[in-house]
Amino acid sequence: MKKVILKAEKLCKSFANDGYQNHVLDNLELSLYEGDFTVIMGSSGSGKSTLLYSLSAMDAPTSGKVCYMDKEITGLAEKELAQFRAKEFGFVFQQVHLVSNLSLLENVLVPGYTDKDKSAKEVKQRAMELMVKMNIVDAKDRLPSQVSGGEAQRAAIARAVINEPGLLFADEPTGALNRKNTEEVLSLLSDINNNGQSILMVTHDVRAALRGNRLIYLEDGKICGEMELPPYDEKNVKEREIQVNSWLSAMHW
Ligand SMILES: Nc1ncnc2c1ncn2[C@@H]1O[C@H](COP(=O)(O)OP(=O)(O)O)[C@@H](O)[C@H]1O
Ligand SMILES: [Mg+2]
Repeated sequence: MKKVILKAEKLCKSFANDGYQNHVLDNLELSLYEGDFTVIMGSSGSGKSTLLYSLSAMDAPTSGKVCYMDKEITGLAEKELAQFRAKEFGFVFQQVHLVSNLSLLENVLVPGYTDKDKSAKEVKQRAMELMVKMNIVDAKDRLPSQVSGGEAQRAAIARAVINEPGLLFADEPTGALNRKNTEEVLSLLSDINNNGQSILMVTHDVRAALRGNRLIYLEDGKICGEMELPPYDEKNVKEREIQVNSWLSAMHW
């Protein structure tokens, strides 16, 4: 029996738009499970990013509640929320938000130093281990502008997981990458998931979605379908692709 890590109840999010309300999330119910690589798919504008922001407390939902483990996070005061997010959640986005005048290693170290339970030496050691595992250690002293998009995104993932978050949120992490860099970043996400990292990824790229073991389809702010898959395995990719594509056509993708 898998453990629920994040639970959303009656989640609504609307935006005021020229005098009318745009109801983007509509009474959405969702539980995420520990160890899963959950993928949210859906057409552009279906509310995927809005859902990710609401679940991760980057943005407050209009109503409804979100609990992480047994703690309700909706309604926490901003300061407590910021500390909670920094400790429990990691984030990766389509655009690589690295600090341009810091080296890749320094970028990875910065959030690590906010963890008061670790010495600077321990943080540096973990950063180096991550960079070795992610195959970017040779580029550690370069600036983000001096590495490939794939290397920069892998450094952004290293930075996102340096504090061992309970859940990693990724919004279109391969959206700005070419095919080779996409595969590198996806392999990395599969690796860290195999090592126990829970992931919630939003994507409209089928190749990225194949990495998930649970796929959820969002349309007009409602979940209209989901499918379970075995953990990703290179050997069965073709079969997996057929399965996922046929599910996506049933969803009118
Ligand atoms: N900050 C915002 N202000 C107003 N409307 C927004 C905002 N963010 C998203 N929306 C609207 O919410 C809908 C869903 O957007 P989004 O969650 O970004 O979709 P997706 O990520 O699936 O492409 C769109 O109609 C978009 O215009
Ligand atoms: Mg989006």
